[in-house]
Amino acid sequence: MFNGLGGIFSSDMAIDLGTANTLVYVKGRGIILNEPSVVAYHVKDGAKKVLAIGEDAKMMLGRTPGSIQAIRPMREGVIADFDTAEEMIKHFIRKVHKRSTFSKPKIIVCVPHGATPVEKRAIRQSVLSAGARRAGLIAEPIAAAIGAGMPITNPTGSMVVDIGGGTTEVAVLSLGDIVYAQSVRVGGDRMDEAIISYLRRQQNLLIGETTAERAKTTVGTARMPDDGRGTSMHIRGRDLLNGVPKEAEINQAQLAEALAEPVQQICEAVITALEATPPDLAADIVDRGVMLTGGGALLSELDLALREQTGLAISVADNSLDCVAIGTGKALEYEKQLHHVIDYDS
Ligand SMILES: Nc1ncnc2c1ncn2[C@@H]1O[C@H](COP(=O)(O)OP(=O)(O)OP(=O)(O)O)[C@@H](O)[C@H]1O
Ligand SMILES: [Mg+2]
Repeated sequence: MFNGLGGIFSSDMAIDLGTANTLVYVKGRGIILNEPSVVAYHVKDGAKKVLAIGEDAKMMLGRTPGSIQAIRPMREGVIADFDTAEEMIKHFIRKVHKRSTFSKPKIIVCVPHGATPVEKRAIRQSVLSAGARRAGLIAEPIAAAIGAGMPITNPTGSMVVDIGGGTTEVAVLSLGDIVYAQSVRVGGDRMDEAIISYLRRQQNLLIGETTAERAKTTVGTARMPDDGRGTSMHIRGRDLLNGVPKEAEINQAQLAEALAEPVQQICEAVITALEATPPDLAADIVDRGVMLTGGGALLSELDLALREQTGLAISVADNSLDCVAIGTGKALEYEKQLHHVIDYDS
């Protein structure tokens, strides 16, 4: 296959292997796959057979009969179920890697800054056994900052806060590298759990993860609405007192209350990072503000809540859900200039 420049299309790829979503960027083409990190198996007599991967499997989460298991192989940004993760990576690579290219692809994957050497090796291994010729790793905060268009190679401090499904990574970057980074195990999943436990406590209503996520993304908010109530939506779950299905209404004030703890933890992580940053770089961040990336950054009013608590100017990146994949992809495209951020062999 030839591209417009007459060269052979490379299938080298950059992968954002996220707790909630996996994105694949193909060199020269951009992001061409974006699917939930979920695998569904059919289980019979102890033997497992893959039934669906990605979008189709996510629809089964929380709705499976005994014979089907829907699994999220990534937890808190790292592989929790090795075999399932490998199955998923193989499937996604096969989906985008056209047979017309002969060579095995080179693949760059981003990993949380806090990933241990064992966790990094696990990710590298599964990419290699999924068919990569070479596997490089890039730290997620660097990828997020590149993807958000921050001038990371300048001698000025930049702060990026990537709020994903499993973790929030707060990092201060200067001269193309990480000066300070901290990963807290609070992200979109924790917000969903907070909504579930709030409704259980306050209304004896048990709802599923999918319903909680929908409430969060449609009317969820990080701040108490000015009228003390805000808009509301109907949700369905099970009444814990009599066990029957029940419909209830939840408003933004209740969601703000439910989400107060995870939101507070994200604010504290930013404050801690600022305190740990050398003074000149901290002054740069006060001047230039903080960039939010990741799906969690889309929580309504989170930027305002963060500004109120930290006093810093806060912006949400364009395409915040895609930043890490775009940044990892750019590292692949501009590997000559950015070689120092990619790690091929630890
Ligand atoms: N509009 C929204 N409001 C609040 N949360 C949202 C919104 N849209 C998406 N999310 C949440 O963003 C999270 C997914 O974000 P993202 O794709 O950045 O995570 P990830 O990269 O898979 O996870 P991680 O980086 O922790 O491994 C999910 O928890 C999802 O519910
Ligand atoms: Mg992520």
